Amino acid sequence: MTETLSPHIRSALDLIAKKTLEDETTIGAAFPYVTHPDGSWDTMSVSVSAGYAGEAWSHGNWFCGFWVGLLLTSYLHTGDEKYLKLAADRMVLVEERAGDGNTHDIGFIFLSSAMPFYRITGDERHRATALRAAEKLRSRLVVTDRGSYVSSWGPMTDPRGRAASAIDTMANIPLLYWASKEADDASFRLSAEEHAKMTMLSFNRDDNTQFHAVEYDTATGDRMRGYTYQGAHDDSYWSRGTGWAVMGLAVTAANSGNVDYLNQAIAISEKWFGALGDKAVPPYDYDATGDDVPEDSAASAIMAGGLLDLADLHPDETVATHWRGKAELLIKGLCDGYLATEDGHRGILKHGCYSEPHKIGPDAAVMFGDYFFAEALNRIAFPGKFIEKYEKLG
Ligand code: GLY
Repeated sequence: MTETLSPHIRSALDLIAKKTLEDETTIGAAFPYVTHPDGSWDTMSVSVSAGYAGEAWSHGNWFCGFWVGLLLTSYLHTGDEKYLKLAADRMVLVEERAGDGNTHDIGFIFLSSAMPFYRITGDERHRATALRAAEKLRSRLVVTDRGSYVSSWGPMTDPRGRAASAIDTMANIPLLYWASKEADDASFRLSAEEHAKMTMLSFNRDDNTQFHAVEYDTATGDRMRGYTYQGAHDDSYWSRGTGWAVMGLAVTAANSGNVDYLNQAIAISEKWFGALGDKAVPPYDYDATGDDVPEDSAASAIMAGGLLDLADLHPDETVATHWRGKAELLIKGLCDGYLATEDGHRGILKHGCYSEPHKIGPDAAVMFGDYFFAEALNRIAFPGKFIEKYEKLG
């Protein structure tokens, strides 16, 4: 139970505990991913994997682990065993995906579920599941003349799958770092660090904005093109991508001991906050034009999580305090202006944007936004209890 929290943190955790319990009685065996315009959840079966239908790419269900993470958050907050039981029953469904080699999202699925489940309960079953998933993620490593990267989208037997890399993968590599320590196997860590290096080389533009995705020449490692899937256009500044990158860079700094990765994270964060101005939430893409450009609250939740990592790790206390303050401001802004406190809206954070170009949850609660918001709250409310992606730099 949490006795001494700031009121806004406590209220947000209360809301998560209330809504997950209520929704467990209505969502059935599927998992929530975006809210409909009326505020009800759209759900997806756990077994929907990623893949191409003709030329069209679909991410499939990469949300199922996040739901388990919300139940585990609620367990830590309330101490009520029924959340643990619900999470365990859901986890049986999620485990099926630990052998799914189609997508980098296997990282998201298991670092939000099996990893914290093992940390909270010590149950070896979850450790084994997370390690199995990490092996699949590592098997996506593509070794080129210029470096190596973990490919993102599609089976490795499909040339499109091998060549594709997304900035989002940076937030999946913590599963590899965790596995490296758990299995005492440096190949996981080396794969993750290579990926981080190659990503910053190929995705980051001179002005410290990033491409959403890159197509590589799989032999030379040259960038064939930078492009977008969920952003406004191929050269645009997709606001969620920077948070994914900061998460990956911070964890890479911790696991390699190289502070330069934190400096890269700071440079891209400064650019992001410069574009944000005095708001708490950015547009889904800083380069989107027109009327009614959707915001993306998930981008702020993810950025807050990445900045908490950065602040935890930075050896200079003044710098660390600055970035912790930025993270806390984002979280306060989300709590003050974006919480779905009304019963009719089933998400936690309003005004997330899954994909404006595809019109999937363009202005909705999105499961990954809710989860990474909860992960950041966990970090503040229960330090070290939910997830530990790194040890602090010495
Ligand atoms: N696939 C991760 C994202 O939508 O940000």
